[in-house]
Amino acid sequence: MKITVIGTGYVGLTAAVCLAELGHRVVGVDVDQDKVAAIQNGKLPIHEPGLLDIFKRYAGTRLTFTTVLEGAVAMAEIVIIAVGTPQGKDGDADLTALKEVAAQLGRVINNYKIVIIKSTVPVGTGEQVAEIIRKYQPSPIPFDMASNPEFLRQGSAVNDFLYPDRIVVGFEKPAVGMVLRSMYLNISAPIVETDIRTAELIKYASNGFLATKISFINELARFSEKIDVDINKVAEGMGLDSRIGQKFLHAGVGFGGSCFPKDVAALTSLGKKSGLELSLLQTVLEINRTQKKWFFDKIKHSIGTLKGKKVGILGLSFKPDTDDMREAPSRDIITWLEKEGAIVKAYDPVAMKNAKNIFPKVQYMDNPYQVAQSSSAVIILTEWPEFKKLNWQKVKDSMAGNLIFDGRNFLSPSKITGFGLRYHGIGGKRI
Ligand code: UGA
Repeated sequence: MKITVIGTGYVGLTAAVCLAELGHRVVGVDVDQDKVAAIQNGKLPIHEPGLLDIFKRYAGTRLTFTTVLEGAVAMAEIVIIAVGTPQGKDGDADLTALKEVAAQLGRVINNYKIVIIKSTVPVGTGEQVAEIIRKYQPSPIPFDMASNPEFLRQGSAVNDFLYPDRIVVGFEKPAVGMVLRSMYLNISAPIVETDIRTAELIKYASNGFLATKISFINELARFSEKIDVDINKVAEGMGLDSRIGQKFLHAGVGFGGSCFPKDVAALTSLGKKSGLELSLLQTVLEINRTQKKWFFDKIKHSIGTLKGKKVGILGLSFKPDTDDMREAPSRDIITWLEKEGAIVKAYDPVAMKNAKNIFPKVQYMDNPYQVAQSSSAVIILTEWPEFKKLNWQKVKDSMAGNLIFDGRNFLSPSKITGFGLRYHGIGGKRI
């Protein structure tokens, strides 16, 4: 099939590359000339495991990139919109880029197309986009809308695309459904077929539910810590019930990233607009906000006064395998540490470049041991696997204090305390 993907962010680029892998002829389009030039030169703007290898297999043959929308749309049977929908005013999704693309599509669509929205959008956006396309068409040319939300996690987007748990497609005409099914013919996964509005809500509902699971276990972690119960065991004991499931029940310093905070806010805002308070989801966000503060207060309480104390941070990105700092818990923790007068040292395998623009005063180090050097405490905020393999004796010997705060519950408390360090996790038993 001939497919054009508009937007080369992590969703658009992953989709373009993986659709080429599925055997389609794909053109990726972006307005950002530098970005497109870099991609054309083999430099991908995102760090996604496996993406570059597939890209290299098809680049220049069945996978090309351009800034010229008109030509790209002219050749396509299917146009996929995958532009960003960041958080706008009052938590609403900002649809500026999407509406702009719709207007341009109206101007350039030359013959029948199926226009698929892959961006995460409020319910009803498919209809709005169709109206905009029609408004800008010089003369009526038929097209059909569809929704095909993505469920890609940063850091495993390629795998999630090629081996999904399910594919969701929303459309109004059976013929469109047939085309969408054949687009994914080479993927073995259940396909949920529905109307466009339902598909749009499935995406928000999925992220809302996953965020709810995290806030649930995080709130319970605060409680379990008070009553001296290990939250990790609680999660294990609960999660083995197949109705509950173990995934996304990992207590930590809070969820971040470009999706959960924004999508839960957008969903609650949609609720308000329809006259309904989605109070559970509002609380999910509130718990996530207070989780970071709760963890910071623990640090402050254990160290005592922070003024002039060196504090080391290991991990800055919102999760491992990405350099993305959006809504990363490190942002709040560093802000509060700096406000209290602490001297913050930090290390992250890939996110320091981005972090430098946000926190210029932080001392960025070449490795975790330099972070530990003379620090009163070391705080882990991202569970990068390399932190598990640290020589903790070396860490202990170079620190001024002995406090380890594990904001991701991923170290073994007994191992850490075995080195004479004091371990503080999230919702753990007293040791
Ligand atoms: C999330 C969803 O998982 C994807 O399905 C969805 O497609 C994507 O948003 C999106 O809407 O585009 P992502 O934000 O990349 O993916 O990352 P996740 O792996 O879901 O993690 C989000 C945050 O939750 C991270 O900060 C992570 O540390 C935190 N988390 C995750 C926990 O604190 N505990 C857990 O048990 C799981």
